[in-house]
Amino acid sequence: MHVPKDRGFQQTPASEITSRSTYLRRRQLMHGLAAGAAALALPATAQTAAAARPGKNAALPAARSTVPGAVSMDKPTLYADTSSYNNFYEFGTDKADPARTAGSLKTRPWTVAIEGEVKKPMTLDIDALMKLAAMEERIYRLRCVEGWSMVIPWVGFSLAELIKRVEPTGNANYLQFLTLADKAQMPGLSSRVLDWPYAEGLRIDEANHPLAMLAFGMYGELLPNQNGAPVRLVVPWKYGFKSAKSIVKIRFVQKQPRTSWEEAARDEYGFNSNVNPKVDHPRWSQATERRIRQDGLFAKKRPTLMFNGYEPQVGQLYAGMDLKKLF
Ligand code: MTE
Repeated sequence: MHVPKDRGFQQTPASEITSRSTYLRRRQLMHGLAAGAAALALPATAQTAAAARPGKNAALPAARSTVPGAVSMDKPTLYADTSSYNNFYEFGTDKADPARTAGSLKTRPWTVAIEGEVKKPMTLDIDALMKLAAMEERIYRLRCVEGWSMVIPWVGFSLAELIKRVEPTGNANYLQFLTLADKAQMPGLSSRVLDWPYAEGLRIDEANHPLAMLAFGMYGELLPNQNGAPVRLVVPWKYGFKSAKSIVKIRFVQKQPRTSWEEAARDEYGFNSNVNPKVDHPRWSQATERRIRQDGLFAKKRPTLMFNGYEPQVGQLYAGMDLKKLF
């Protein structure tokens, strides 16, 4: 464990020294009072997320989701790990880069434009977007194609809440998500590793599934920049790379849209990207996974489940599809 060096230590006058037992009793009492006050200030439903806040961002209270499958019983991964081991190439290609360099991202003011095949195109300020629906806490498993996985308590609501407000036309078969590409704020854009802006896509029936989520926070707080502030996508039955971060535009389109990873390596990252233990990535097996920090380097890996364990909820979306071809 890292113990900070004791800087500027000063001897405490004897008159101010409290006995250990008195100190502990006082502390217990203060904690009790603080917790009681906090509990009174928040609606009953908002207490789960707020109780767990481990970071430094503003609180984002939320009720536990009642969407079937939205609250995994798996133990959440430590915030320290999920906020320091990230893929966000706009801030560098090393997993430690985003936590180091994404502080430069300005997340206010921020707007998200919704356009294309919709009857009501709109540009929403991020604070207005956050008020579109009640915030929910959802504990989702996230599996990366590289073989590691995490469990994260997200805060947000179903993407379907936004979709119904813009009223898609009959031609809206897909959604494309475009994210910020600003050289002044994002050091990674000087590299041609991906074609900017970063783009992801979903079929409209996938996007409308209640488990597909717009996330604004995690662990009861606003998202850290490196995790995709101020708004990102989370689609728990697909590989992590489907989760576009720092979204500025959502386009409703007729034809399957371009996605950054498909463009970068079509044979490795298909449009569908469903977690599927039976279809290996050319470089990595998809049959098992290692839960970050919880599964040590020498521990037996855990089996990866079909659709990341969300098969009962989403399996029907892929009935009859050849998932070996449409990976
Ligand atoms: N979004 C943007 N804008 N840029 C990126 O490079 N990387 C993706 C996805 N979203 C990426 C992105 C990849 S490869 C993964 S695995 C997930 O974000 C990681 O999300 P996490 O850091 O919250 O785990």
